[in-house]
Amino acid sequence: MTRKRILSGMQPTGELHLGNYLGALKNWVNLQAEYDCFFCIVDQHAITVPYDQKALPKLVDDMAISYLAAGIDPSRATVFVQSAVPEHTELAWYLATVTQYGELGRMTQFKDKTEQAGSESGASAALFTYPVLMAADILVYKATHVPVGDDQTQHLELARNAAQRFNSRFKKGFFPEPAGLYSPTPRIMGLDGLKKMSKSIGNHIAMLEEPKPLWKKLSGAYTDPQRTTQDEPGRPELCNLYRMHTALTPAERLPVIAEQCRSASFGCGHCKRELETSLNAELEPVRARAKELRANPERLRQILGDGAATARAVAFETLREVRELMGIRGPTR
Ligand code: ADP
Ligand code: TRP
Repeated sequence: MTRKRILSGMQPTGELHLGNYLGALKNWVNLQAEYDCFFCIVDQHAITVPYDQKALPKLVDDMAISYLAAGIDPSRATVFVQSAVPEHTELAWYLATVTQYGELGRMTQFKDKTEQAGSESGASAALFTYPVLMAADILVYKATHVPVGDDQTQHLELARNAAQRFNSRFKKGFFPEPAGLYSPTPRIMGLDGLKKMSKSIGNHIAMLEEPKPLWKKLSGAYTDPQRTTQDEPGRPELCNLYRMHTALTPAERLPVIAEQCRSASFGCGHCKRELETSLNAELEPVRARAKELRANPERLRQILGDGAATARAVAFETLREVRELMGIRGPTR
């Protein structure tokens, strides 16, 4: 039996944070044992909003380093850059023909991003069709599962709809309908406790944060809003930091930490110190691997080159089939 296949990706828009790591990347690392994995750096998604073309190449390399430092293993998973496989954009065009305009208009990420920019009509057409390219990223590998944070649920639904419509129009069962795979912590809140942790808001701790700034940020993080003094009992189930403990701290400590919070026998500072220990234990090897990779750009080139070759072979075959099904001639020899 062939293994189930995963595809996921992140935009190279800056350093990763603990939300990306605990909500998605750590999950990717764990899934490598069980699935046939494709992980890409989606540079063509990153250009749907204004961006700095001089900075982009380095951002792409930094993102690749982050994937590998977190534990993505190129001997088990295919790691590559989206634009190295032009079949993604070609398939996106074909999928656009089975995607409804109204469906795209309902995407909340589009609404959020255009709201931030202050104008919907001035947004690029590429930002509007962004989810179609995402569907192509997934379907070009006929991926069955997509590990992401819960903010991507609506985009995945659109990918499933596109697969369904393509199949019913052109060939039954051709594309799998990809399912989301969520980590146990699919939403990490920011240090402000108000919004999800996000690099665009600046309420984050970076995945590669050094110990000193890590503690500085963590010590100021928002906990249970009702616990304004140490003597008041806290509610771990509502606390973002407790959620991080569940992902990082040894399981036998969790009931103890929860009880200390509920009974107000210890303050949040104590709980944060223990989380600091867990975070540093988790992130120290990640930081070390990132330094090693930065010192070896040749190795990075090779990993991304090999990944692109593997990915392209699969994508090439899918496009050959898709064109044939759709009556499209395609490149001739
Ligand atoms: P950002 O919002 O910081 O720009 P992205 O949108 O690039 O992050 O997200 C990359 C991946 O990380 C996606 O799979 C997304 O679902 C996940 N992710 C982002 N922020 C969080 C968060 N705060 N909690 C959990 N997962 C997250
Ligand atoms: N839209 C995703 C995000 O904002 C990034 C992405 C692009 C993606 N293509 C994908 C995620 C394919 C999973 C699968 O984070």
